[in-house]
Amino acid sequence: MTDADAAVANPHFLDPDWWRHAVVYQIYPRSFADSDDNGTGDIRGMIDRLDHLAGLGVDAVWVSPWYPSPLLDGGYDVADYRDVSPDFGTLADADAFIAAAHARGLRVLLDLVPNHSSWDHPWFRAALAAGPGSPERARYVFRDGRGEHGEEPPNNWGSLFGGPAWTRVTEADGRPGQWYLHLFDISQPDFDWTNEDVCAEIDAVMRFWFDRGIDGFRIDVADAMVKDAALPDVPVNPETGFGSNEKNPGMPQWDQPGLADVQRRWRAVADAYAGTELGGRVFVAEAYIDPIERLVAYVEPDRLHTTFNFDALISEWSAASQRWVINHTIPAHEAVGAPTTWVLGNHDNTRVATRYGKPVTGRDFTAESETAAEPIELSAALLAMPTDIGLGRRRARAAALLELGLPGGAYIYQGEELGLDEIEDLPEAVLQDPVWERSGHRMRGRDGCRVPLPWSGEASPYGFSATAEPWLPMPAHWAPLTVAVQDADPASTLNLYRRALALRRTLPDLRADAFAWDELDGGDVLAFRRGGVLMVVNFGATPVELPPGEVLVASAPLDDHRLPHDAAVWVRL
Ligand code: GLC
Repeated sequence: MTDADAAVANPHFLDPDWWRHAVVYQIYPRSFADSDDNGTGDIRGMIDRLDHLAGLGVDAVWVSPWYPSPLLDGGYDVADYRDVSPDFGTLADADAFIAAAHARGLRVLLDLVPNHSSWDHPWFRAALAAGPGSPERARYVFRDGRGEHGEEPPNNWGSLFGGPAWTRVTEADGRPGQWYLHLFDISQPDFDWTNEDVCAEIDAVMRFWFDRGIDGFRIDVADAMVKDAALPDVPVNPETGFGSNEKNPGMPQWDQPGLADVQRRWRAVADAYAGTELGGRVFVAEAYIDPIERLVAYVEPDRLHTTFNFDALISEWSAASQRWVINHTIPAHEAVGAPTTWVLGNHDNTRVATRYGKPVTGRDFTAESETAAEPIELSAALLAMPTDIGLGRRRARAAALLELGLPGGAYIYQGEELGLDEIEDLPEAVLQDPVWERSGHRMRGRDGCRVPLPWSGEASPYGFSATAEPWLPMPAHWAPLTVAVQDADPASTLNLYRRALALRRTLPDLRADAFAWDELDGGDVLAFRRGGVLMVVNFGATPVELPPGEVLVASAPLDDHRLPHDAAVWVRL
């Protein structure tokens, strides 16, 4: 990369505050593009398709895990933090990808999974071999069981994927032995974050990738690392019979005070790069905790930089609920000096176009009583409802203009720019998410949002692979949604995203932090100003008369300067 190349591609590339306004595109490598025609995406495929992202106008990409992994949780089960899975390529491919992204003015965030490793990680194998009381076991959470012969798990915690959060091991002498903790899949043993080996190793892993040019990390389950040392029982979830995974304050598995020190330590590692060409490195935290006032502690000045705004993701499609989220998000972040982010989807949640086509579209934040739903539970509940996909796509387009019109940063999950829907009827035989098995087939899991991207052509594999059967089947009804078809259609969702992103990049008002509700706001109409630009979203049935001004972009055709239902517009006043 030369600075000149990157600056031509993206004038904000070397701005040290780039992350405050960045639109970040999530690549799920398995499903993005397959260069070697084996049905699974790979890094060479990502390089081949980088021009799609440069042309879209995003500022950065976040790459879901590309490390060696048995893929028992889609790569969030890491067997080696310093290498690339042979399924996806080589370290040299990763270096080439980072360089090719930078040359196009795109920053690169990588996923880091610090809460747990895979059971294939050499440290976990060593821990099993070394036995109770060893320093190798001390890197994970091994405990003796309860009961006379240790036959009961150490506490009643449940795994988020179903079943107990503890699994008993067989010791070297062949007898049943200790138990290890796994908040997620049985193949994902939790590290013990009070162990200095663990802390030092993750610091070193970060430096390994920062030295290769990675611009920052997305921190997987950033609220989980530290547990209450007493590992107390928690209230039972009557549906599963195991301890609840609710994230209310005081729950011993989540959001423990000790996390602050871990985050400060990481911040120091990232800040040490401030003098380099790419500048200090950055973090985005994945933490489904509630309310937002609690979450913003993670982005205090000496902790992480940004955090996903999942309230925005799980909010229902209504003016009142969205207004509530905006009114809580912006001041909470201002109070700690951090930028907001806006999120509509990711590889764990039902795709936005499907969600917004359901009779229930998400959480009503004005009904204060509910607690946040975990993505897996929310998706399971939605699956039971019929979808009006036409309405869902229309709303998803409006939601894109809302998300991209707000101050701060925004995330686009691959395929959102095409208006892709959730594939809710994948045959059971192809389901790969561990949730399916671990929940005793009660919940289908998250494969429906992970189906590979359609690039071109009339039928599967739609240019994702040359000829191979994709790792999840691609539906016939995606033929009109390919990148090639949408590229040629000025009214497509892809071109809507391109237009909005180009405006975001070029209009100074949209890079400033200013936000103010407009007099038009109220009832079913959300209306706010970003300097001289008015953003309006109509959630109601009645068309909204717009004030005079130049229409910069609209999610649906206007009728005589009136904004129809389930549509959004940006107007320069
Ligand atoms: C995060 C990831 C999810 C994964 C889980 C366990 O929530 O987004 O895909 O299953 O962590 O690592």
